[in-house]
Amino acid sequence: MQRDSVHGIWSSQFAFILAATGSAVGLGNIWKFPYITGEYGGGAFVLVYLLFVLILGIPVMMAEILLGRRGRRSPINTMRMLAREERATRLWCFPGYAGVLAGFLILSYYSVVAGEVIAYVFRAAAGVFENQTPDGVRSILYSFQGNAENLLGWHTIFVVMTMLVVARGVRSGLEKAVRFLMPLLVILLLMLVFYGMTSSGFDRAVRFLFQPDFNKLFYRANESGSVVFTLEGVWVALGHAFFTLSLGMGAIMVYGAYLHRDASIGRAALTVALADTSVGLLAGLAIFPIVFSNNMAPNAGPGLIFETLPVVFGAIPGGALVGTMFFALLLFAAWTSAISLIEPAVAWLVESRRWSRARAATVLGMLVWMLGIASIFSATGVTLGDIATRIVSLFVVVEHPLRGGIYDSNWFMLIDTLTTRILLPLGGLTVVLFVGWRMRIMAVRDEAGFASRRLFRLWYLTLRYLTPLAVLAVFIVGIIEGFLR
Ligand code: PFF
Repeated sequence: MQRDSVHGIWSSQFAFILAATGSAVGLGNIWKFPYITGEYGGGAFVLVYLLFVLILGIPVMMAEILLGRRGRRSPINTMRMLAREERATRLWCFPGYAGVLAGFLILSYYSVVAGEVIAYVFRAAAGVFENQTPDGVRSILYSFQGNAENLLGWHTIFVVMTMLVVARGVRSGLEKAVRFLMPLLVILLLMLVFYGMTSSGFDRAVRFLFQPDFNKLFYRANESGSVVFTLEGVWVALGHAFFTLSLGMGAIMVYGAYLHRDASIGRAALTVALADTSVGLLAGLAIFPIVFSNNMAPNAGPGLIFETLPVVFGAIPGGALVGTMFFALLLFAAWTSAISLIEPAVAWLVESRRWSRARAATVLGMLVWMLGIASIFSATGVTLGDIATRIVSLFVVVEHPLRGGIYDSNWFMLIDTLTTRILLPLGGLTVVLFVGWRMRIMAVRDEAGFASRRLFRLWYLTLRYLTPLAVLAVFIVGIIEGFLR
């Protein structure tokens, strides 16, 4: 089946791989992966995450590229068209709509964190971290995060940067920039890993990351301080496999829509997954030696990279330059991911409403910007309890602010959980069920274009059985656990 994309096409398979890698490699690898690994105890979490990348990330990525390339539209319209083609219900459009929502929600906090990265580019350049102790670096972070107006300014800049590229179309500029800047990011990460190797904390870091201790994953302190068994970490690892590979919300699907018909889907997916996983592990190997050689806590949470890396940039000769380059490259990685977060929504508005890309980008950008304000307040310490208290006190007198349980978490944690742990896995599950169980196998085989029958069978069977069962099992256990608590 041959269809044309109304949005243009990548110049080559390599260009697609670059763009997909640009989408996958981002804050998820360098900011998020280390801090969640720290929170969930290290090695065992990493192992489970790697397993999920293998049995679910790679098959789902192939399924998404396949659907995108077959439909050649935004995820919503692609799913609608393919469902019609298979005489299936329109409910299969779910991943399209859920993806637009998830991309929008994720971007609203992603751009706040990316804004902090911009600020750190300038701080590193100005030599703010020179000879700072870990405590000094932490207090710089806290005073920075305590200032909402500051965060708002950087967030605004990042939203504008993203929407400018989106308005011009994904292809122009993006391909060339990724080709050049991604390898540079890897080189800098390698440099930091080498630095870590010379530090006293390196051995502990390697053991922390690669020696699985399942007790640390399964037993966690609850709110009252007692240690309980929980599979929460497994759920977080599952969600992160989707998040870091940009799966389950149509980003890879929409990039697949611009892919040549004769490109190899399997090879492309493997390359992207390998690149993405390597960057995450390298980031861990760069950050944890710093944590351990300075006696810092690995579970510092979302501020981890901002607390650790500047310590090194302040200590090494030429650290200002290295630090500036590092944050600049991280910013770039975040930028190429942010673009793909909003592309499904833009493509949909262009197709369905006949809006120009510029108009779609402007409207979406304003919405993302407004929602981002809620995440800014999360960074400054406002909890859900504070918000609820404020709202309730409009109507009745509240004696004590609402505290405990969900009230102690914040808006950022809420949307992160909703998107990463629920929307993305559900979107991915629907995609594999459609390809594995609803599409005619002839159509799947024709579109997948595998040279080897064996490999096709391996992928197809994984997609039909293993992937959906894994997602469902984690979901069901997670929900039961939620009820029991
Ligand atoms: N994969 C990106 C990262 O790891 O930073 C985040 C992301 C981009 C998630 C695009 C989802 C997506 F569709």
